[in-house]
Amino acid sequence: MKKLVVVGQGYVGLPLALEAVSAGYDVIGYDVDVRRVKRLATADSYVEDISDGRLGEALASGHYRPTYDEADCSGYDVAVITVPTPLKDGTPDLSFVEAASRSLGARLERGACVILESTTYPGTTEELVRPILEESSGLLAGRDFHLGYSPERIDPGNSRYTLLNTPKVVSGIDAASLAAVSEFYGSIVERTVPVSGTREAEMVKLMENTFRHVNIALVNELAMFAADLGIDIWEALDAASTKPFGFMRFNPGPGVGGHCLPVDPSYLAWDVKRRVGTAFRFVELANDVNDHMPEYVVRRLTLALNQLGQSVNGRRILLIGLAYKPNTSDARESPALVVAERLLALGAKVRAVEPYVDADWLELPIALVELTAREVEAADAVVILTDHSNLDYDLITSHARYVLDTRHRISGRSVEHL
Ligand SMILES: NC(=O)c1ccc[n+]([C@@H]2O[C@H](COP(=O)([O-])OP(=O)(O)OC[C@H]3O[C@@H](n4cnc5c(N)ncnc54)[C@H](O)[C@@H]3O)[C@@H](O)[C@H]2O)c1
Repeated sequence: MKKLVVVGQGYVGLPLALEAVSAGYDVIGYDVDVRRVKRLATADSYVEDISDGRLGEALASGHYRPTYDEADCSGYDVAVITVPTPLKDGTPDLSFVEAASRSLGARLERGACVILESTTYPGTTEELVRPILEESSGLLAGRDFHLGYSPERIDPGNSRYTLLNTPKVVSGIDAASLAAVSEFYGSIVERTVPVSGTREAEMVKLMENTFRHVNIALVNELAMFAADLGIDIWEALDAASTKPFGFMRFNPGPGVGGHCLPVDPSYLAWDVKRRVGTAFRFVELANDVNDHMPEYVVRRLTLALNQLGQSVNGRRILLIGLAYKPNTSDARESPALVVAERLLALGAKVRAVEPYVDADWLELPIALVELTAREVEAADAVVILTDHSNLDYDLITSHARYVLDTRHRISGRSVEHL
């Protein structure tokens, strides 16, 4: 049985680890977060796509072992790095990838295969990971071990497209590495898509996310103009979406969040600036529009309250959803938090209905409450920011005095859309 180490047991690493167990690997789930590892060891999942039951089965099989002890990573055949790649002061922070590479390099053996999955700028696998692995192991990539990159396409909360049935782009630093990386993923997912080099594979992920980021910005800007022009952007979108070719629907909203969209395009922009000396103008523009959206939501709410003869100061505002997208507990970079922060700064009493995000995680003085008729009636305004599907929206429609719905989830006399 082959030994796999997955470095980082988060939204990306944990699902991969468990699928690999099902595919017949002996899996070490290595993470530096002791609290997370302890939760995993007691079958307490913090990734909503992974049920406690599924985690429990993997643990019971004896082929999945979560650990924070680096020594457990020794003797691996394949290792995959799925650690965070955030921005620090607007520039890529690769410190987690570097640390993970050092951990694996120290335990690298001849014939093993190391794969980077973390989203990053083109060149990272060859220029950053490779030298660290070679230096800490004394081995040579290509000659002694295989090295490759495979972008992650996981979409938390999406039950239709999972790790298994989403084609997986694979690459290697040479033909033998590509073969090793393809063989590994080929044993887990339904379809692999080989590309000729790691830089192309790194580019794939950034291209996909920049595409989304730019198109969301486009529709957000259109939504703002449409509101000023008295045009129903949602109706126009519904109609445009009937075109069977040449149009892809993106919806306006309160901004972009999560680990990917607000971050990844800036990795590419940083790289382009560094290597080519040119600004990636689409990304700069999209950042500008999308970053502005929470402010726009607050302005729309302020105007609406003003029309009712009220100010934001002292008003009780009920926010629906704080996660960055529906049906996930991930609130990293969530625009809903920026909206909440701005409203608090203006003196509003902010409460929120958020069934998924852990209250301990929130740093803002927001009361997390249940969605009840009383709660809705007591609010001066309700703002739908994330439309989780397990909430009773009829209750909001029938009891709210005023609703600003940024997701076009409900309609009614007291409801305004973005
Ligand atoms: N979440 C997504 O939907 C998604 C989708 C595609 C790609 N990605 C990319 O995948 C990567 C991981 O994202 P994620 O959402 O799984 O992050 P995450 O924060 O959920 O998980 C990362 C884990 O890595 C651990 N970690 C950090 N440094 C470590 C180290 N040196 N050794 C071992 N463990 C370490 C952290 O403690 C954490 O548990 C990022 O590059 C992200 O951009 C994420």
